[in-house]
Amino acid sequence: MNISFWLASTPDTSYPSLDSDIKTDVAIVGGGLVGILSAYLLKKAGYNVAVLEAGRIAKATTGHTTAKITSQHNLIYDKLIRQKGEELARQYATANESAIKEIKKIADENKIECDYIPQAAYIYTQQDKYIQQIEAETQAALSLGIKAHFLEEIPVPLKIIAALRFDDQAQFHPRKFLLPLASTICGNNSQIYENSRVVDLEESLNYTLTTEQGKKVTAQKVIIASHYPFYNKSGFYFARIYPERSYIIAIQAQEKYPGGMYINAEEPPRSLRCQDSEKGELILVVGDNHKTGQGENTSLHYQALTEFAHETFAVKNIPFRWSTQDCMTLDGIPYVGQYTSDTPNLYVATGFGKWGMTNSMSAAMILRDLIVEGSSPWQDVYNPSRQTVLASAKNFVVENLDVAKHLIDGKIEGKISPLPENTEIKAGESKIMSVDGNRIGAFRDEQGTLHLINTTCTHMGCELNWNSAEQSWDCPCHGSRFSYDGDILEGPAVHPLSAEKETKTVSKLLTDEY
Ligand code: FES
Repeated sequence: MNISFWLASTPDTSYPSLDSDIKTDVAIVGGGLVGILSAYLLKKAGYNVAVLEAGRIAKATTGHTTAKITSQHNLIYDKLIRQKGEELARQYATANESAIKEIKKIADENKIECDYIPQAAYIYTQQDKYIQQIEAETQAALSLGIKAHFLEEIPVPLKIIAALRFDDQAQFHPRKFLLPLASTICGNNSQIYENSRVVDLEESLNYTLTTEQGKKVTAQKVIIASHYPFYNKSGFYFARIYPERSYIIAIQAQEKYPGGMYINAEEPPRSLRCQDSEKGELILVVGDNHKTGQGENTSLHYQALTEFAHETFAVKNIPFRWSTQDCMTLDGIPYVGQYTSDTPNLYVATGFGKWGMTNSMSAAMILRDLIVEGSSPWQDVYNPSRQTVLASAKNFVVENLDVAKHLIDGKIEGKISPLPENTEIKAGESKIMSVDGNRIGAFRDEQGTLHLINTTCTHMGCELNWNSAEQSWDCPCHGSRFSYDGDILEGPAVHPLSAEKETKTVSKLLTDEY
């Protein structure tokens, strides 16, 4: 079974649901790293805060990360200097270097034991064509004040030809950090509400948020930190973010891990770090990205990582495996700041790519500074309304053509191969069928029960595809994910899928045998 080590090694939370209408200074939608850190900093600055989490805090994105605290975000600084100039590149570098220190400072101030360990971070390559890029990245990082070193060998047993090491980076256990910190937020008119999904937001003098249960939150300021922004009425975030999934296996090996955090420069991505656990040392082997809802057999991604692990280490056991979802922006830099240039009291933090730990901390500091001081030293590089540079204008067209293609493809009946009568669905399998103009997804669980849902995504109407590795229905357009019963696993959708009845037509297509 797929389970994240971070979730398996920490207790569940049990904050109340919002059961009455409330008023607050700042409402924060989303109880992940950025939501809780923003709440913590704003409460410290004297604001009342209400965190509204759709499920349980620190469970979705934060509970499925690799938890590397780095300013090394693959090969980024040389590109940033070339595309955006040295000033904005320096803002990004400084924001993330500061975030590394700020996480440590917050852990120390609150006496939080979160397995925080200083580590070096490495980018390596096994291909000649990346040597020049790694050299250029080393120079770019050094010019921005980062401690960077060009190398020809690294401590892990991989045959490489060039590498770049950043010093003074770190790793931690994200839930051991965030859960104790969250508990400091509650009290004195501040609160965390779980199972309180925000489904609507109205702008007037103040903002009014409505939860799934119909409760209202009136707030002077609102931060949307719900991973993929659910609010569609402005900002066009759905046209500027694309979601990607990636996979993690936690292995136990015969040999001792030599330390360090690693990622390759080339495709397919492979990343390594180690984590102590009650079971001993776990090596996290990460990678195999793909766009959410796209690709055929998602289980093959776990298989690819397992093969890489066996090629690299003497694997004894694989006690945990899980997958994660990241929001990617068009130019690789997160969107943090005012939701749009004409919404001074509505803020967003999204699009952290694969680098959510330091970018979440930076985002929380930026949002605190914007709300308290009216400006942040790093606001320009993260500005969600920044001018689209040439490279990202091209990405805008590519990504939106991709969404349009999936939207149209899903509606073409001929794209679904018709199911012959008496089709068998084995336990753990799914099928898609067209019944009276509706696209219906069927999944049979291990007990033999058939689960039928309408596969039209409740966000903007794209048709969902089956994700065999996670047994979920995933949207190829903006990455909403649903359980086989139609419950929301990932937004931006805020409404579950509709369940379908087993009609005579369905019974004719599917045999009872399995
Ligand atoms: Fe946007 Fe599905 S997530 S249409």
